[in-house]
Amino acid sequence: MLLTLPKWFDLHTHFRQGPAMPAYVKAHRDMGCAGALAMPNTQPPVSRISGAAQSDGWSIESYSAELRAAGAGDFEQLIVPLYLTRQTTAAMIREGAASGLLRACKYYPPHGTTNAEHGMPMDDLIGGDVLRAMEEHGIVFCIHGEQHALSGPDYIDAQQNAETRFYTERMPRLLAAHPKLRIVCEHITTRTAAEFVAAAPEHVGATITPQHLLYTLGHLIQGLKYHLYCLPIVKFQDDRAALRQAVTKAGQKKYFAGTDSAPHTTKATACGCAAGCFTGGCAPQLYAMAFEEAGADLGSTEGQALLENFLCLNGPAFYGFPASEKKFQMEKAAQQMTLLETPAGPVTPLPVGMGMELTWRMVE
Ligand code: NCD
Ligand code: ZN
Repeated sequence: MLLTLPKWFDLHTHFRQGPAMPAYVKAHRDMGCAGALAMPNTQPPVSRISGAAQSDGWSIESYSAELRAAGAGDFEQLIVPLYLTRQTTAAMIREGAASGLLRACKYYPPHGTTNAEHGMPMDDLIGGDVLRAMEEHGIVFCIHGEQHALSGPDYIDAQQNAETRFYTERMPRLLAAHPKLRIVCEHITTRTAAEFVAAAPEHVGATITPQHLLYTLGHLIQGLKYHLYCLPIVKFQDDRAALRQAVTKAGQKKYFAGTDSAPHTTKATACGCAAGCFTGGCAPQLYAMAFEEAGADLGSTEGQALLENFLCLNGPAFYGFPASEKKFQMEKAAQQMTLLETPAGPVTPLPVGMGMELTWRMVE
């Protein structure tokens, strides 16, 4: 079985900074990726619009130039969102929109995930002039939707978790205060979030990662497969079923690919584990496997259309750029993954970390 699809867009990924960047960008290009939204939680963060990189932050302009020099110049699209910090002003949003450099801003729950320590709490943003300026200028708001600073039992238990709390307590307030704001609910993991997005206006969409479509918390905990540890953490079967249903609904326009591929050269340590799954080189294969597990027949025209919609079409339509006219191919055959060697050290792709076989292979 051979799948021929338009090249796809990864609307949430991490390319980091420093000498490993070219390897991360290449891994994306090697898997038929036509363009990416490269997250701003670099060290230091991408917290300005233009100008040279400074010790406390990159600008969108300087980080994009760094990415292009690392191989992203061949992408059809490269979006770098602005990391919202306490230093972000409405004037920056207006100037960024006017210059064309600013297309999206990112919300990080303070201390809630990797390099999120510069984040500003959602409660302080709602109703403020930064979000008003974004609303006015059509700038997309990318949201890591988890309530921060919860105690262990509130962070996750069988009834609720940091994401369900955020989608029931914060998101309705955000929508009410900023009815025109274009929003991407990033890497959603729960039925609560999937249903929130489905019920929201059409300018509210969501990205979903391959790992959240494939796995549950049980997979992570059984054998403590720490390469599956990412944030938001994988959830329960009912959540996974809701995500699978959302992405395989014929003609759906709201859910699209955003791998959240997040390379870490060091994962588990004596005092914890870095959050992030690396899926460079294997994301379309993993998505194809997840769609099959969700019941899509990728041998049929209808089944292929579902995957194409999610992977190649909805993201561009939501962000307002054309889908790719180039193609890539995958065939139904085993593909062996290996560690990605980088100048910063080796990175373990998710299938290697999970000891799993890819059942789809990228055709070169
Ligand atoms: C991401 C990273 O490593 O940068 N980690 C993750 O677990 N997803 C940050 C993020 O997107 O939350
Ligand atoms: Zn991410």
